[in-house]
Amino acid sequence: MAVLQTRELTKTFGELTAVDSVDFAIDSGEIVGIIGPNGAGKTTLVNLLTGVFESTSGEIVFDGRTLGDSPVYSRAQSGLVRSFQIPQICDDLTPVENVRSAILTREGYNKSLFTVLDWEDDTRLEASDLLEEFGIVDQQETRAKAIPHGDKKILDVCMSIAMRPKLLVLDEPTSGVATENKYTIMERLRSYFETSEVAVLFIEHDMELIAEYAERVVAMDRGRKIIDGTPEEVLEDETVKRRIRGEE
Ligand SMILES: Nc1ncnc2c1ncn2[C@@H]1O[C@H](COP(=O)(O)OP(=O)(O)OP(=O)(O)O)[C@@H](O)[C@H]1O
Ligand SMILES: [Mg+2]
Repeated sequence: MAVLQTRELTKTFGELTAVDSVDFAIDSGEIVGIIGPNGAGKTTLVNLLTGVFESTSGEIVFDGRTLGDSPVYSRAQSGLVRSFQIPQICDDLTPVENVRSAILTREGYNKSLFTVLDWEDDTRLEASDLLEEFGIVDQQETRAKAIPHGDKKILDVCMSIAMRPKLLVLDEPTSGVATENKYTIMERLRSYFETSEVAVLFIEHDMELIAEYAERVVAMDRGRKIIDGTPEEVLEDETVKRRIRGEE
């Protein structure tokens, strides 16, 4: 069943149509990659889905509800969560504290004073369990600013997962990471998401990562969705080869 569906989703900036009548759906548990040249409209599409931008026209249905102009925060609370190209981490907190702050956001800070102490322990445990699952638990008492960039990217994903997403959107999860470390990050993400019901939508420029980790690929160019299919179908498409893979 589709957790998210868009119908003729469009965003214009003045004369420019950055996202042009895009119909797109993603099912629970699916891992979908979005590719496209610079300026294709990938980030704008994500900004529309997550509520950063209001669409010019069209519709977004998430988890059975039309989103309208609901803001980023309420979309995140209903399970449409985005992680960032640049990790949105508080550098002076430890990874555990960062994940706990995401848990607090999820819970809407609405615990009564009497339950808060137990709950403090519960959130600490939940946060360190999550970090352990992703292989960065040994740094849990180091300030986030001192951990390697690749681990920050993973921490950022852990913070998103702590929000208990139904759909997690990742804008270039391995950007800025050395090539040899990209696979480590993607392997850790895959081993988590393979067994979860979370749908994952990730923007990626690296076609080898797309071929390896996406179950389905959507290619965009000049605001439009040009093809949507298996990685093999999309990566071998002539327009994709010419416009996105830079082959003549
Ligand atoms: N806030 C904005 N105001 C005006 N134009 C914008 C805005 N955001 C994006 N654009 C324009 O919309 C088009 C699509 O941009 P977008 O950032 O979505 O591309 P992208 O596919 O994410 O590219 P990249 O691979 O470089 O990240 C570009 O022409 C861009 O200049
Ligand atoms: Mg972008």
